[in-house]
Amino acid sequence: MKRSEAGDLRAENVGERVKLQGWVHRRRPHGAVTFLNLRDRSGIVQVVLRPDQFPEASAALEAVRLEWVIEVEGDVAARAPDAVNPDMETGAVEVIAVTAQVLSPADPLPFGPEVPEEDVTEETRLRHRYLDLRRPELQRNLMLRDRITLEIRNFFHDNGFVHVETPILTRSTPEGARDYLVPSRVTRGGFYALPQSPQLFKQLLMVAGLDRYVQIARCFRDEDLRANRQPEFTQVDVEMSFPTEEDIFDVIERLFARVFPLVGIEPRLPFPRLPWAEAMARYGSDRPDRRFRLEIVDLTEILGASAFRAFRQTVEEGGSIRAIRVPGAAEASRRQVDDWAATARRRGAAGVLTLRRRAGDLVFQVKDVLEAGELTRCAEGLGLEDGDLALLVAAPVSTVAAALGDLRLDVGRQQGLIDDSRQEFLWVTEFPLVEWDAAEERWNSCNHPFTAPLTEDLGRLDTSPGSVRARAYDVVLNGVELGGGSIRIHDSDLQRRVFHLLGMSDEEARSRFGFLLDALRYGAPPHGGIALGLDRLVMLMAGATSLRDVIAFPKTTSATCLMTNAPSSVDRRQLAELGISLTEGREKI
Ligand code: AMO
Repeated sequence: MKRSEAGDLRAENVGERVKLQGWVHRRRPHGAVTFLNLRDRSGIVQVVLRPDQFPEASAALEAVRLEWVIEVEGDVAARAPDAVNPDMETGAVEVIAVTAQVLSPADPLPFGPEVPEEDVTEETRLRHRYLDLRRPELQRNLMLRDRITLEIRNFFHDNGFVHVETPILTRSTPEGARDYLVPSRVTRGGFYALPQSPQLFKQLLMVAGLDRYVQIARCFRDEDLRANRQPEFTQVDVEMSFPTEEDIFDVIERLFARVFPLVGIEPRLPFPRLPWAEAMARYGSDRPDRRFRLEIVDLTEILGASAFRAFRQTVEEGGSIRAIRVPGAAEASRRQVDDWAATARRRGAAGVLTLRRRAGDLVFQVKDVLEAGELTRCAEGLGLEDGDLALLVAAPVSTVAAALGDLRLDVGRQQGLIDDSRQEFLWVTEFPLVEWDAAEERWNSCNHPFTAPLTEDLGRLDTSPGSVRARAYDVVLNGVELGGGSIRIHDSDLQRRVFHLLGMSDEEARSRFGFLLDALRYGAPPHGGIALGLDRLVMLMAGATSLRDVIAFPKTTSATCLMTNAPSSVDRRQLAELGISLTEGREKI
């Protein structure tokens, strides 16, 4: 007899004989009969053991406990009207067990699938991830991930993209994180790097003439982890030949228009575009959450020449004074203001200054330093209404932006300004090409070194590199960076100039990226692409708050797997074979 799925049984199956296999989800003796809830991936159905009618089935399952694996053959019956359970999809029926057997007993579990997530520590759940994955919510997420991935593959196939697998054992591709290294046994002292992304391979596929590439690609980055970062994660990696930025945007917008409806979201196309500089000025972030409109206002012109020394000095040193309005917060407590100041300090600002509008009066935190006219112009600029407060930050431009960007999010959350039902997609464009690393005293790529500068900025590459914009873009949803990409450099000489700018000598560039520089001389088409974070995409679509909820076997924030105990020590013989000796730490004797 073929197996049926428990969750599929409905009134129309009444009278059928079915075979079910699954877990004992609940067990409830009730007088002469015993009710078992049998669970499989599809759902749960009630099984009834009737010793008077079918003594063998009852005897076979007499000893079962929660989470034992059983098999039942029986008849689907309608429940009595007063026994119908409207909370269960199969609540109109039950299965009367005719024969049954235990397939696999279970020891008492550390926790069952019914136990609320918060009642079990995350450590225990990760240690027994296979049990955690029995929770319906996580099963739903994994199945949603499967459907999203399939839809993505189909979309790209339908649009002429070829799915190509690129190597995992490779050389370092710089994406700004540390590499995971793999020692080679055959080449003693040689190391592969696990790819931080397939960046160089996808560019070489364009040189090869593949035209449109896609890969659901696993990437590895040894970096400091947070809730939305994992050391290994999956990208939807895309590259096209001869594209403009708009061609890439169009592909991704159409992809989202196909995928998001899986969870009932219909994105409005096209997504708005916002240059990076404007995003930083208005929202203090390169991935603004635009589900609420509160924007940062620049008060530098109004206050730069004021009698308040702190403001004057900031402006003389090239900094700026900016603020956000906090609606209805004129009576905010000292403690609340201290909290806001702490947020600003975490971003390097000295703190915040308040401007309150009470009963028509404008009250600046520091008495007698600003003139009435200055206060009025600030209030007008900010749209400050009676009962509002404004938070002012004066500091170097990048610090002000970052501090007010964080404050904006704090205020948005505290005041319930964020409309959860909105989906705000956005392209952030024209990122800077490089940023100055003061500690190392050199320029670093903001994106990666293969990103093309904007043609009209090329002339400043040597004279004012910090002002050169890149043909780079990110796609953002509700304040989360879903993906990023760029149009690439396809000219070997320009690529060498950029390597130079980043402090790489010709020899070093040759030894690390000689294959790329060569390839760019053999007829490289203009090309560009993007990579989406698949885990993040699924997380947002599933309405989850952590990447761990959409990854079957995730790692902790210290990049360990609590279930397998990876990373683990290896024995001395294995190390010797690789020509490796440890100076300290976890060598096993
Ligand atoms: P980038 O480094 O911006 O670009 O990565 C692209 C997207 O991958 C996701 N992502 C991550 N997701 C989970 N955990 C991580 N540690 C992690 N790091 C990145 C993000 C991010 O937007 N080669 C370029 C793409 C290109 O230029 O085409 C690249 O990797 O969602």
